Parts: sequence; C-alpha cells; structure tokens
Amino acid sequence: MLPTPTIPSPDYERIYEPAEDSFLILDLFESQLSYFQSKRFSKKTPLVLEIGTGSGIITTFINKHILPNAIYVASDLNPYACKTALRTNKANASSINVDSIRCDLTTALLPNSVDLLVFNPPYVPAEFVPQVPETSEDEHTWVDIALNGGPEGMDVTNQLLQSLSDTLSVDGEAYILFCARNNPDTVAQNFMSNYPNFKVERVIHRKAGWEVLSIYRFLKLS
Ligand SMILES: C[S@@+](CC[C@H](N)C(=O)[O-])C[C@H]1O[C@@H](n2cnc3c(N)ncnc32)[C@H](O)[C@@H]1O
Repeated sequence: MLPTPTIPSPDYERIYEPAEDSFLILDLFESQLSYFQSKRFSKKTPLVLEIGTGSGIITTFINKHILPNAIYVASDLNPYACKTALRTNKANASSINVDSIRCDLTTALLPNSVDLLVFNPPYVPAEFVPQVPETSEDEHTWVDIALNGGPEGMDVTNQLLQSLSDTLSVDGEAYILFCARNNPDTVAQNFMSNYPNFKVERVIHRKAGWEVLSIYRFLKLS
C-alpha cells in the first residue's frame, strides 16, 4: 500500500479535512497505477489540474507515487487551502513541479491544456452554495464551501462539466467524485448525449457510512 501523505500543521477550521471521499480518490489512483504510468498523454510532460485541492493530499499523492514527471496545478477558491497544499506537497514530494493558484474552477487555465483533471467537489445536497467570505469573521464558511453543492449537490460540479470539454487536451481525462444523491449515472448519460466526443464511466465506488461515493472518468476522445 502506498503511504498517505502527511499534512503539516493543518487548520481544519479553515480547510477540508481529508475523509472517505479523499481516500477513495487515493485508492483509485493506486489501483490504476499501471494504467496511468502506461497511458500516453498527448504531451510528454502532462499537465495535472486538481480543482479544490484542500489540504493538497491528492495532488501530493499523485505527484509522489503516480506521475512524478508531470506538472501540477493545485487550485482552490480558498486561499488557506492553496497555502496548505504547497506545504503538504513540499513535506512529502518534489515541489519543483507543483504550484497552486487561487481561482474558481478552471477560470485561470488555458483552453485545451489539461491532460488530467481531478475534482472532489462540494457534492452534499444543501439549500445553496455559500458565498466566498469577505471578512475574516465569515471564515468559518470555508468548510461549508468545501461541502455544500446546492439543492442536488450538483451546482459546482455542473459548472465544471460545462467547461470540461474546453479545458481538457485531446485524450485528456477527468476524475470527478459524486455521491449517490447527485444521480451520477444520469449525469454521465446526459453528458455523453451532449458531448459525443466523450466516454464516461464509473471507475470505483464505495459505501461510506450512509453514503455511496463513486468516481467517474470523463475521457475526451481524439
Ligand atoms: C470536498 S473538498 C475536497 C478537498 C480535497 N481535494 C480532498 O479531497 O480532501 C472540496 C474543495 O473544493 C473547494 N472548492 C469549492 N468550490 C470551488 C470552486 N468553485 N473552485 C475551486 N475550488 C472550489 C473547496 O474550498 C474545498 O477545498
């Protein structure tokens, strides 16, 4: 079993604490190690984007164990997450190939540039997606921003899905986590109807407490 990165001095009142969803993503990458290492990305040095990096545990794990020769962008809306992700990576893996940017989803990326995209989104059904805090008194909101995805838990993921085709490179792929209440099979079918240049399939799923989590691969076909 590949070791899980350690997170130095985390502040879990301001960033998401890795949980079953984060560990399901690590397990997926570990179980598909040979797939990733043999996959021919369109570029020799693939660009990996993790949206919503939180503690940086996922970017660091992939950098250390799966694709050490890639270039990484670990992004988050939350500035504390961006700083923590860089610290986590530096404490566990090579840091010369990883940077962090504070941005909303894919807005800071060049079109058709990302070879591998990973997103553990705010997927919990909730009345609304919280606003980004404007003052330090509102900073408890960061944890809600990490979790709450609007009425079906899909508001943030749907936003990403709309820009996915324009974000991924040819042969690029995205791994996105869903809970059962997001109706991921329907999401996948609808996505393939709207974007016939994509193959979408579930690659792993697991019961976590009363929740069933699953990860889908969105593969852009050349
Ligand atoms: C469920 S947490 C996942 C954190 C980490 N990747 C993990 O798996 O442990 C979701 C993360 O997405 C970030 N996030 C929420 N909305 C976002 C957006 N619109 N753009 C970028 N990041 C966002 C949150 O701040 C949070 O860090």
